[in-house]
Amino acid sequence: MRRFEKEESFLKLEKGNRPVVCVQGLGFVGAAMAVAVSNAKDTEGNRLYDVIGVDLPTEEGKRRADAITQGLLPFENSDIQLKEALASAHRAGNLIAVTNSSVYTMADVIIVDVNLDISYEGGKADVPLSGFRKAIQTIGESVQPDTLIIVETTVPPGTCENVVVPELNQALVKRGLPKHQVHVSHSYERVMPGKDYLDSIINYWRVYAGVTEEAGDRCETFLSSIINTKDYPMTRLHSTTASETAKVLENSYRAMTIAFMEEWGRFAESVDIDMFQIIEAIRMRPTHSNMRQPGFGVGGYCLTKDPLFAQIAAEKYYQLSHIDFEFCKRAVEVNRKMPMVSFNKLYNHFKQDLKGKKVALFGVSYRQDVGDTRYSPSEPFVKKLTESEAIVDCYDPLVPRWEEMKMDVQQQLPSAPYDAMVFAVGHQEYRQIDFRQWLNGRTPLVLDANNVLSDEQRLQLRTIGCDVISIGRGDNL
Ligand SMILES: NC(=O)c1ccc[n+]([C@@H]2O[C@H](COP(=O)([O-])OP(=O)(O)OC[C@H]3O[C@@H](n4cnc5c(N)ncnc54)[C@H](O)[C@@H]3O)[C@@H](O)[C@H]2O)c1
Repeated sequence: MRRFEKEESFLKLEKGNRPVVCVQGLGFVGAAMAVAVSNAKDTEGNRLYDVIGVDLPTEEGKRRADAITQGLLPFENSDIQLKEALASAHRAGNLIAVTNSSVYTMADVIIVDVNLDISYEGGKADVPLSGFRKAIQTIGESVQPDTLIIVETTVPPGTCENVVVPELNQALVKRGLPKHQVHVSHSYERVMPGKDYLDSIINYWRVYAGVTEEAGDRCETFLSSIINTKDYPMTRLHSTTASETAKVLENSYRAMTIAFMEEWGRFAESVDIDMFQIIEAIRMRPTHSNMRQPGFGVGGYCLTKDPLFAQIAAEKYYQLSHIDFEFCKRAVEVNRKMPMVSFNKLYNHFKQDLKGKKVALFGVSYRQDVGDTRYSPSEPFVKKLTESEAIVDCYDPLVPRWEEMKMDVQQQLPSAPYDAMVFAVGHQEYRQIDFRQWLNGRTPLVLDANNVLSDEQRLQLRTIGCDVISIGRGDNL
């Protein structure tokens, strides 16, 4: 790919010798995928692809594209390997990002990593497909015949066949081209932002399928050039609908097993036993080694919505009114309510009066060791505390600004006194706190809402005079 100075001059971009891969959508998935593809090399160490990331021409889209073009990840990230891979692609000059969709005309491969959001009110889930359709139409406006398209966005099962292919055909016909001239496939990401961000793309198992045999073959060849398939073999399914279903089922299963633990946590708290110790004992049995545990709540972009996609597909694409996906809906509802259990613990401890109580919340991201705050369970928790007129300060080493709450977040442990401290996210920094030194005579209530603190830390806190209560274990443990 010939170099360019700025995005405005993207028209100067010219195709070089390497195949061009466009990644549509530069969010948590697309940005990392673009880096992974740009670092794919042949056996002699030569880079295989020129990569162009594409986002929307919005303020945020431009910020993301500019960051990547400058060799920087647009998000807080603790994975050094990913940072280095991006910097090395930047030096090699085979990765840029733009907000102008006409670059699809140069693509040999297009990877779709746009968002697809769900609304869920009163037990009814819906997914407005207009944004996703628009993304596919945009590709259709300039894609060249023979291009491989890989949809990685999580979609209601059946979307490639019922939406992607028809939209592309329509766009091709409009341009005077024959239908079915591009190869549509589906393969879902299991990317996990955090310290193993890049590894979760290149050193991880994949599932994929093509709308046609040829699309499946091409998808396999392409992904095998990016992913370490020797150690992490890929699984091919017989249709894109099957691959889309695998993604949705995988996440629904996870969301449901988390929800399942919720009432066991309440039981443990009530009868003064330690659910985490019990789960560790059960996990020794290989068939139960990934048993979930009680916690503060379920957040992030995936588990909060993916269990609802199957019901939407059943209704929208297949008119299957007799299948209700009751467990999936229940899981989403139980998981949504979880942060209120922690709230109620504080509320009851302070005799139903939180007015003027100073509360410090440790952890606002949705998961330990990541800076992603999307659908974080800390959000309803803080809102409810504020509604109750408590004074809340938030701390998180990985989140300087909490966009969803329009709030600056502090990174350092505070020296100010608090009535209560809530540990909501198991960031590694919290597991190393020496409370005796830090609290220096202060004795706030401590709520360990997510099994964040060690036995030693809880003992230390009690020794210095703090009340310690937990989610998932009795108050004396
Ligand atoms: N860890 C994860 O977040 C994760 C893991 C696996 C799968 N997924 C799935 O991957 C998909 C993307 O997730 P994400 O977390 O990266 O979302 P995101 O919201 O962080 O990013 C999506 C990006 O797509 C851009 N976009 C939307 N429409 C576009 C268009 N027409 N053209 C170009 N760009 C467009 C948005 O501006 C945004 O930057 C989702 O379907 C998600 O469920 C996410």
